[in-house]
Amino acid sequence: MSAIKPSAARVLLRNWRGSYTVPAGGLYPHQWSWDSAFIAVGLRHLSPRRAQLELDTILSAQWEDGRLPQIVFHSGRDDGYSPGASFWHSEQIPGAAPVATAGLIQPPTHALAALLVHEADPAESQRRRFLERAYPRLVRWHDYLRNRRGGRGGLARIVHPWESGMDNSPFWDACLQAMTETYTALIPRPDLLHADADHRPSDGEYGKYLYFAARYRDHGCDDADESFPFQFEDPAFNGLWARSELALATIATLVAADPLPHRLEACRITEALETLWSTERGCYVARDILSGTLQQYRTVAGLVPLLLPGIRHTRELLDLVRGPHFRLGEVAMVPSHDLTAVTFDPSRYWRGPSWFNTAWLIAEALYERGFTTEAEQLSRGMENAALEHDFPEYLDPHSFAPRGTTRFSWTAALALDASTRIGAPR
Ligand code: SER
Repeated sequence: MSAIKPSAARVLLRNWRGSYTVPAGGLYPHQWSWDSAFIAVGLRHLSPRRAQLELDTILSAQWEDGRLPQIVFHSGRDDGYSPGASFWHSEQIPGAAPVATAGLIQPPTHALAALLVHEADPAESQRRRFLERAYPRLVRWHDYLRNRRGGRGGLARIVHPWESGMDNSPFWDACLQAMTETYTALIPRPDLLHADADHRPSDGEYGKYLYFAARYRDHGCDDADESFPFQFEDPAFNGLWARSELALATIATLVAADPLPHRLEACRITEALETLWSTERGCYVARDILSGTLQQYRTVAGLVPLLLPGIRHTRELLDLVRGPHFRLGEVAMVPSHDLTAVTFDPSRYWRGPSWFNTAWLIAEALYERGFTTEAEQLSRGMENAALEHDFPEYLDPHSFAPRGTTRFSWTAALALDASTRIGAPR
């Protein structure tokens, strides 16, 4: 860890804003929900206390209904980001957080992060009653997913591509292409001041993103718009939910609560995930709830259930990640989309490039399943690429060239965390 620690610390210090970390100064100048969880996982090696504060801050933006918002606008301003505080006007929504936020959510990685942060310094965590504070909030967050986003099949639904964290994944293509509606006002793209247009989602996609976001906002973000045109069950979102329920079971034990409901919930979600298995693709995929159709694409989201001990298709997923579609060990980290697909693009956001957060998740799964050599190779790949390219947002899987922005917080945090796993006793 010695080589990466000072430079990762510099990135995380630069992006620190007193009680939270921005993902990247120019491109993402606010606090993002799942970013904060990943960032805390790395921050724990620099300052367990700061890692706790990162999570305390995101948890304190919880809405009355239990949701953790996708973005917290601590300044109350847009600060050059779109759609910002002036788009959401969350102060006008009953039950929203006292601080300005977006109305959407992001994948539930927080309980997993809270447990890892606690484990970095259990004595300090206990002294500050970190888990006692976090546990009830995490429980309410998961209750929100079950009660307000849960469907008949038992999985949580997302109502916006941004909620998957994988904005322009091919999973959403058919839905977006079939839509005739789009955002009719000017579509601001301040992101293009900070990243190459060829690395980002297109204007056409942004028109649809803003249409969905405005419609959700105008319905009071109440999850009661039954004909809402974007409703999906996503394998990574639900896989992370189940994994976080397992973490919550451990946290429950540590705070003298009952772990059993969380274990049962994790089993229930894991079982429901099997309905997203595509025999055609040999991978978990997303389901469009409105059309009832599985979206037949191999993406890194479909590999994330490897984190769950109870899935039925472990062998197939391991073969898939090692085979020609993802080429583990031969290309940069784990590509976000099938290398052989016609929809694969090596540079554009979630349509091919390799990201550090998904690499970290797959490495975790490989360590846990005993594939230490491959997990360490992946961890080393993260560390080297992060150091070589000034902590890039994502990489071209073939050329290893940096894409998106640089000095990206979760890249620094997770490459640092990955470096601590290499050669660590198990
Ligand atoms: N990923 C989105 C963006 O690019 C927000 O979550 O702004």
